[in-house]
Amino acid sequence: MTTNARPRGKTTTRPPDEVSPSVAPEQPETPSPERPAPATPSTPGHGAPRKEAPRTMRDLRLATETRRRSTAGRALENPLREGLRLERVPDPAVFVLFGATGDLAHRKVVPALFQLWRTHLLPHEFRIVAVGRRAYSDDEFREELKGALDKYSRVQPVDRETWDDLAQRIVYHRGDFNDPGMFASLAERLDDLDEEHGTRGNRLYYLATQPSAFPDIVQQLGKVGLDHERHDGGWRRVVIEKPFGHDLDSAIRLNREVGKVFRERQVYRIDHYLGKETVRNLLVFRFANGIFEPIWNRRHIDHVQITVAESIGIENRGSFYEETGASRDFLQNHLLQLLSLVAMEPPATFEADALRDEKVKVIRAVAELTPEQIRRDVVRGQYGPGWVSATPVQGYRQEPEVDPESETETFIGARLTIDDWRWSGVPFYLRMGKRLPKRATEIAIQFKDVPHQLFKDSATDPEANLLAMRIQPDEGIMLRFGAKVPGLGIDVRNVTMDFTYGSAFQVDSPDAYETLILDVLLGDASLFTRADEVEEAWGIVDPVITAWAEMPPPDFPNYEAGTWGPEAADDLLAREGRRWRRI
Ligand code: BG6
Repeated sequence: MTTNARPRGKTTTRPPDEVSPSVAPEQPETPSPERPAPATPSTPGHGAPRKEAPRTMRDLRLATETRRRSTAGRALENPLREGLRLERVPDPAVFVLFGATGDLAHRKVVPALFQLWRTHLLPHEFRIVAVGRRAYSDDEFREELKGALDKYSRVQPVDRETWDDLAQRIVYHRGDFNDPGMFASLAERLDDLDEEHGTRGNRLYYLATQPSAFPDIVQQLGKVGLDHERHDGGWRRVVIEKPFGHDLDSAIRLNREVGKVFRERQVYRIDHYLGKETVRNLLVFRFANGIFEPIWNRRHIDHVQITVAESIGIENRGSFYEETGASRDFLQNHLLQLLSLVAMEPPATFEADALRDEKVKVIRAVAELTPEQIRRDVVRGQYGPGWVSATPVQGYRQEPEVDPESETETFIGARLTIDDWRWSGVPFYLRMGKRLPKRATEIAIQFKDVPHQLFKDSATDPEANLLAMRIQPDEGIMLRFGAKVPGLGIDVRNVTMDFTYGSAFQVDSPDAYETLILDVLLGDASLFTRADEVEEAWGIVDPVITAWAEMPPPDFPNYEAGTWGPEAADDLLAREGRRWRRI
């Protein structure tokens, strides 16, 4: 397969200089829908009626299906919040957290569990077994987790009583991940917990360890029979963190190892970007609205830009980053996931496999790059010393645990094309970088110019429409269009319609990990990557990594911290008469 460079076109993106009236939330036309009574959980809950928004695609659907209209209107503070309700509570379960003493567990997993607990989204019969190598008593470990929550919980201060309630459900289990004895004792302990606390044999194994430990843990779980689902209903699910493999071969091997023990339907591969509220909204935006889909194709779209900019550096993860770089850390997963959601065909249903089938099709249709195209269409960069937010920062090569001669990329830019009917000839420009001027993730859909320019005499050059989806921060969607400047004569100026989550719904979005953990507990795999999807994504990244290894060493560092990446990234678009959107 080849990528066909599109002929040079007219520059269509410009810095946003628009006037920007924001869009007020629309009021419902009919009297407010009556809230359905909270569904009775399968087990007694632990507190007040549930008042949270649907967290999974399935719940969103359930909430919609069961919503009923009432004739009696009701005054509401914010009509956009009406009808938001979670319909289901997960089954009783034990959450077995491998790598419980590590950074990911402390920063993300435990804060997410705590948040789910405090908002009554976990069942009463819930236990956490924290597995780690270091020695702790249960109480010492609980105190350590409390410390982590004080730092990382998104709701502060952490309510002591709520924490104590959850903490008494946490036990620490010490051992090595390759020690069969540890798994045998874990199996006994889990049986005891089922017996004593009614967790009914439902187990979620969360692998928040170094990736190198994944195969051992999975194998050992299999050896002691912890993978077996019981006939009387106990389910077993395993959550595997990214990176899933470090190239195509290792991903295939890992899939094979996991497949020897668990069935695919028991495996949940996390890409936390899929749990982000705004990323999930991409599906809603595309498939719950009738007006965008007809123009969502090569006839109307000039190109797509996906930007993930981070102002942070590698944050004490030098050794991790040395092995991954931006291609493995972002391109193989987060960036390609965003691309697949933008480009996929509408699935026939919202079932996990229907959705994932469509995503896989798109990733499979991404044109494979030849070494020549990689040289031309994929840009890598590494930051040198510079300034971010008026603070001097060191270069990547000066970071702890980083080789002073390192050739690892902290920036990647790529021009990809999708060889199918919908997208043929439409470039997708992707970029991700560490130590860029600001944190911003955005998908920009640049529409084509009008076929015939009627307002040539406008003092300002009219521009083509643009739709920008802000994934984070300042989550929202902006549509740019031309409007007549009031006055005599004709001057067309860009204006924007802006939808901002924060002001429209006035509610905090859940963290991606909350959404995803709840989904696993509910058995909803829609937002998790399937084995074939992971391998297809490696199929795109693998040739890049291989080609780079064979090229002369890159001229690193090639961008200053606090700038928008190497010049070559701008050239990627400039040579086709385009430019990155300034965000
Ligand atoms: C992780 C990457 O997957 O995502 C990190 O390993 C990155 O390098 C992080 O910083 C970004 O996540 P978020 O949710 O802050 O955008």
